[in-house]
Amino acid sequence: MRSGVLGTVKKIASSVCFVGLGFGLVLGLGSGVLLAQTAEQAWLKDGQVPAGEVVPQTVRALGGGRLEKTAVEELRRGFGGTRGVKPDPSAGEIVVGTVGEVQSAYPALRLRGKDSTPEGYWLQGEKTDNGPRVIVAGADERGVLYGAFALRRMVAEGQPLEGLTQHSAPAFAVRWVNEWDNADGSIERGYGGRSIFFEGGKVRQDLTPVREYARLLASVGINGCNVNNVNSAAPFLDPEMLRGVARIADAMRPWGVRVALSVDVASPEKIGGLKTYDPLDPAVQAWWKAKADAIYALIPDFAGFTVKADSEGQPGPASYGRTPADAANTLAAALEPHGGVVLYRAFVYNHHLDWNDPKADRARAAYDIFHPLDGKFAANVIVQIKEGPIDFQVREPVSPLFGGLPRTQKAMEVQITQEYLGQQRHLVYLGTKWQWVLFQENLMSAAAKEANPEGSERLTGMVGVACVGRDGWLGSPLAMANLYAFGRLAWNPSIQMRATKIAEEWTRQTFGNDPDVVRVVDDILLQSWRTYERYTGPLGLQTLTDVTGSHYGPNVEASENNGWGQWHRADHEGVGMDRTVATGTGFAGQYPPEIARLYENPDSTVSGLLLFFHHLPYTYRLHNGKTVIQSIYDMHYLAAEEAAGFVKQWETLEGKVDAGLYKDVLGRLEYQAGHAIVWRDAVVEYFWKLSGIADEKGRAGNFPGRLEAEDAKLSGYQVIDVKPWEDASRGKAVTCAAAKKKAATHSCSAEWTYDGAPGVFDVAVDYFDLRGGAARFAVSVNGKPATSDAAWTADAQLPSTRPDGDNATRRVLHDVGLAPGDVIRVTGTPDGEDGAALDYVEVGKGRE
Ligand code: GCU
Repeated sequence: MRSGVLGTVKKIASSVCFVGLGFGLVLGLGSGVLLAQTAEQAWLKDGQVPAGEVVPQTVRALGGGRLEKTAVEELRRGFGGTRGVKPDPSAGEIVVGTVGEVQSAYPALRLRGKDSTPEGYWLQGEKTDNGPRVIVAGADERGVLYGAFALRRMVAEGQPLEGLTQHSAPAFAVRWVNEWDNADGSIERGYGGRSIFFEGGKVRQDLTPVREYARLLASVGINGCNVNNVNSAAPFLDPEMLRGVARIADAMRPWGVRVALSVDVASPEKIGGLKTYDPLDPAVQAWWKAKADAIYALIPDFAGFTVKADSEGQPGPASYGRTPADAANTLAAALEPHGGVVLYRAFVYNHHLDWNDPKADRARAAYDIFHPLDGKFAANVIVQIKEGPIDFQVREPVSPLFGGLPRTQKAMEVQITQEYLGQQRHLVYLGTKWQWVLFQENLMSAAAKEANPEGSERLTGMVGVACVGRDGWLGSPLAMANLYAFGRLAWNPSIQMRATKIAEEWTRQTFGNDPDVVRVVDDILLQSWRTYERYTGPLGLQTLTDVTGSHYGPNVEASENNGWGQWHRADHEGVGMDRTVATGTGFAGQYPPEIARLYENPDSTVSGLLLFFHHLPYTYRLHNGKTVIQSIYDMHYLAAEEAAGFVKQWETLEGKVDAGLYKDVLGRLEYQAGHAIVWRDAVVEYFWKLSGIADEKGRAGNFPGRLEAEDAKLSGYQVIDVKPWEDASRGKAVTCAAAKKKAATHSCSAEWTYDGAPGVFDVAVDYFDLRGGAARFAVSVNGKPATSDAAWTADAQLPSTRPDGDNATRRVLHDVGLAPGDVIRVTGTPDGEDGAALDYVEVGKGRE
């Protein structure tokens, strides 16, 4: 047990139990119960004082500003004020104020640390004649609020406040989230339900969740929120919509979160009635100026514009032979008098590349287009650069553009929503990934600085594409660690801010301080990115998914043979993109010489990026002595075991976390473990067939205990070819879809006679859970249900409307007794568009 604040040892009678409440709400939402969406569902719990701790309950502000008022309210909520804990004056007081206010109230007080970076804060404990006092001082009002949240964090984590003296300031001025919400309430790449901001073309009436979101954002230091999709931005500049956006700004303002909008550069023509949107046309410039004036009349602290132009079908300055700098500067000039900024995205590339051209390379695009414009951007333009040169893949090298714009302000864009990383159905903690990315960025920027000592390589901002929705924010409780980690890294991207530390902070605030819970949750979080990488895209292959469709399940060839340029160029001999200067696309040469030299040679390229930079024979040996092909096999098998291990680890927490949450996360991890096997089999089979090289360990192409649906005695079921072939075992499955068309209620069945050893086994059923219907499945042995949970409804909302790796799902039935001659039957009952398609049944290892 720890001592209370400033050494006062007292006990608060009851510790406040918040974990259950928060997640009960998440689950409630999932099951259709109408409950408010609150910050408590995430890490920000009211009454967050661990048992035995005492914190001052009296909180007062020295100034009268809005954010100081919020700071006071948040501290009161955090330390129990709203949970009925009676203030105990002897526990001391918390005083909040700006540095100026603190210094005039306490002239003798010395705040340690001289830094006056805006938005920074000091936390300092004092003993006074009237008891202990904690001072929360901010460089400005936002700093006061961030200091208050820092104090909440420390207390929730059970950190001692004794001798407290802390100073912290953000590394970047711009710490924004981007939401890709559409006016109709849908969200591009959102996996947490519908928009908290919009519905039916308008801003929603009830903005309570927006306020709660602002609380979450401010608690980790995020100070800006761009609320709308970069791909359908024009309607947002309509006057009525702007009035609605002003309400959003009002809702977020008390937490210091400024609102920004994505804009379509063709707006002057699309909604302004002009015949052009040429950024150098004076009428266009005047239009933007008038629009900015109108926005600031409604939202005086409007943060600025985000722009996607000349990219993936979005209009842009190229239509008029103008550059991104021309477009950015026109917008910047309109915002400048009001203090707004333009975040101009460097995600500009040609998606009609020539696949047959060995020199064509999408990875080159951002640097090729933006580097020549260095120094040409207005002072209030920030070029927003995706972390990697392609598109949020599971691993990419850091974009060379960070080292190629020494005279331009730059922000790094990362993705919190897990578009290519399992769409929140898979657990992937991104703190680890971003820390790796930031470390690479640091190395590269240092090398660029050495090559060009005049330039400034420092980032100005970090932007996280969040896409939160109404269903528990990100749709999955553990995915919230990513929103948290983003904020913490945007505040402090230095190596001292370890992903491990951030995970621990998040876990403690979210689940409490039980050491077993903290250890297990953190172990799973910290392993998860590497595991996901191993089964979806090891060695720098990027995510081997359907890049032109769902971006979710396995589809190795989907990246090839098209203009999108996410190629890995696999053939019978080898795999990987040759991006060297000597023989490839030259992309490696965009890095500063010191780094470029490393990437030029496979021997000096880190294994995680090997095939990103080099096309290598399958027989090429890595430093660990393994061939490329054997590494691909081994990593997939290892990853599937690791994913299964997450389930086992989580099971140790039964009874230690809220029961509803336990069950929810267990279901998700079980699904992930099954889908990791789907991924493993697809990628291993694909490269095994293509390379013709055997797996040294004999696993590829060999599935002991697997009973294929197409080999079964079928009744009603029909055999189909699954596309892509690697998404089903031996490329085939069976579907009951046709049978459904004939009769309103109809079931199909597949039957096998078991001929293995007698025993008790885990039996996995691999089926396809299609949208548009809730098919039912039942497994029997000799006509009796195989287990008590051997009948289920396949009602998950997975991508794709035909059976493939997006919706292939494994369900494991435990402890099924089998003897030779037993008849195993799967009965599938289709529903709507879901044909109860089945791939195989697999009798696993068992007890004899
Ligand atoms: C990805 C994503 C798109 C998005 C784009 C962007 O390509 O799939 O939905 O619009 O990134 O960042 O603009």
